[in-house]
Amino acid sequence: MQAPTETGQPRTGTCRVCAGPVVQFLDLGRQPLSDHFIEPGEIGTEFTYDLLVGQCSACTMVQLLEEVPRERMFADAYPYRSSGSAVMREHFERTARDLLDGPLRGTDPFVVEIGCNDGVMLGTVRAAGVRHLGFEPSGQVARLAGDRGITVRNAFFEAATAAETRAQHGPADVVYAANTMCHIPYVESILKGVDALLAPDGVFVFEDPYLGDIVDKTSFDQIYDEHFFLFSAGSVRAMARHFGFDLVDVQRLPVHGGEVRYTLARAGVREPSAAVGELLAEEDARRLTDLTTLRRFAANVTRIRDDLTGLLRRLRAEGRRVVAYGATAKSATVTNFCGIGPDLVEFVCDSTPAKQHRLTPGRHIPVRPPAAFAEPYPDYALLFAWNHAEEIMRNEQAFRQAGGAWILYVPEVRVV
Ligand code: SAM
Ligand code: TMP
Ligand code: ZN
Repeated sequence: MQAPTETGQPRTGTCRVCAGPVVQFLDLGRQPLSDHFIEPGEIGTEFTYDLLVGQCSACTMVQLLEEVPRERMFADAYPYRSSGSAVMREHFERTARDLLDGPLRGTDPFVVEIGCNDGVMLGTVRAAGVRHLGFEPSGQVARLAGDRGITVRNAFFEAATAAETRAQHGPADVVYAANTMCHIPYVESILKGVDALLAPDGVFVFEDPYLGDIVDKTSFDQIYDEHFFLFSAGSVRAMARHFGFDLVDVQRLPVHGGEVRYTLARAGVREPSAAVGELLAEEDARRLTDLTTLRRFAANVTRIRDDLTGLLRRLRAEGRRVVAYGATAKSATVTNFCGIGPDLVEFVCDSTPAKQHRLTPGRHIPVRPPAAFAEPYPDYALLFAWNHAEEIMRNEQAFRQAGGAWILYVPEVRVV
């Protein structure tokens, strides 16, 4: 097994929001594309990049220092299916209802979603008969959304495509994005596009993993090629102001290990809610974006890596069987940073057909359908999809009843 691969001297960069200086505080080593599940014949040909995390000294935005080209990540075969979790299906149905009862309740409203994936949110909007358009560059998932009757454009949302949408469909009351804004380094183009598209009193609503939760839980696996930014209320407010918007609302969400839903409006149009001031004050009080806090987080990451690899090596030495559950994009960071391959974890089960019978990126652990889990049950299951713990443990109760135990590494390495 290879040693973990820190890449050398800390680097500096230029902020993708404000062009300020970005100071590195964490090195997660050389990494493959997190969602590129490969055939055995592709071993040796994988694209890799340095997963380095830094912070802008000017606007506080936490971001990657190296950018992976978007066409490599969001290609035709992009395997992530948003509808793969019952909890997330419910979450997005509720989200759609809140938008329909709120900013979309006027006459002939129009909503544009950036990164609609398989249509998990827009399905409800469509059923309500409301005008909508989903932007989705990844071909296979875009086709799934189209098959559900959702209006989809198989393209990247950016300034040019947004302007075309405005010319063709008129202004949007809502632009919405879930788990997509943080994937996009070219924020200037996005916010110019939102500016071109949004009605004068329209809102731009987006939700992404929250830096506060990532630091609290040491969930370093929220950091990978696709997660270019780790947002906080402070950094999103700075980004909004930089491009002529105000941050007018924030809402903490329990999904995906802790997220925040941000609402932006054109500068001066809406009064920020009390929740914005409260979250900003909380971030200040806990010094969330101080470099000392981020460096402490980085030290905790190293500790978790050592605890996890120590546990897995001990279990192997004792002759125990360990498999993993959930071939998440997040787990590419864990396996490649910690050096976890098929010698420590026999296989990973995952319900996504496009991932099954392939190998995980970089460390090449076989991916099998969930049915393989019980044939027979292993002694331990490493839960890579820890953000879906409740749902998975509920569906797999028989594993524990058969004497199995789960291994978690967020917020600490522990066996439950
Ligand atoms: N919104 C869904 C959810 O929350 O489950 C999908 C999230 S998925 C992690 C991110 C999606 O954004 C991918 O389907 C990807 O193809 C898409 N995407 C990436 N860049 C985009 C862009 N510039 N415009 C529109 N979609 C984009
Ligand atoms: P995510 O954390 O990025 O949403 O990815 C979750 C992964 O876990 C995805 O590949 C689907 C998989 N999964 C299962 O295999 N079984 C399940 O019950 C759930 C909820 C997810
Ligand atoms: Zn900046």
